[in-house]
Amino acid sequence: MIKIMFVCHGNICRSPMAEFIFKDLLAKTGRTIEFSVSSSATSSEEIVNGKGMPIYHLAKIELAKHHISCDGKNAVQLKAKDYNYYDYFICMDDYNIANALKIFKGDPLNKVRKLQPNQNIFDPWYTGKFDLAFEQILTGCKLLLAEFEK
Ligand code: 4NP
Repeated sequence: MIKIMFVCHGNICRSPMAEFIFKDLLAKTGRTIEFSVSSSATSSEEIVNGKGMPIYHLAKIELAKHHISCDGKNAVQLKAKDYNYYDYFICMDDYNIANALKIFKGDPLNKVRKLQPNQNIFDPWYTGKFDLAFEQILTGCKLLLAEFEK
C-alpha cells in the first residue's frame, strides 16, 4: 500500500481538498485499496483546545460543487513520528516544505515534495480563489496518481 500525507499550513483548506480530491480520483479509477491517504497541518493554528477545526466552509462548498464530500475531517498537525509511516509528504508550497523539514528534522529518505514541483498552490485562505485552488490541486493530484501508474 502506498501511504500519502498531503500537507499545508492549517489543514482546513488546501491539504484536505487534496486529500478528498485524490480519494475521489482513486474511487473513480477503482484504486482505493492501493492507497492510504491523509492530510495534516504544519501549524497548530486550527487546533483549539486539542480539537481540530473542520474543513473551512468555502473549501467544503468548492468540493461539494464537484460532488466530493469531506465529512468527518478535522484538522490535525503533522508529527515527527508520521515520517516512518508515510511514503510521501505532498506539500502545497515552499513554506510547508520548510516547516515539514523542521518537524522531521530533515528528510533522509526524500519523502517530502511539492504537489506541483514548479508551482506553489496559492492559499485560498488569503486569495479567496477556491475554484482556482481546486483546479490547481486537481491537476497536481492527477499528475501524482499518474506517477504511480508507470
Ligand atoms: P491552508 O490555509 O493552509 O490551506 O489550510 C490556511 C488556513 C488557516 C490559516 C492559514 C492558512 N491561518 O492562518 O489560520
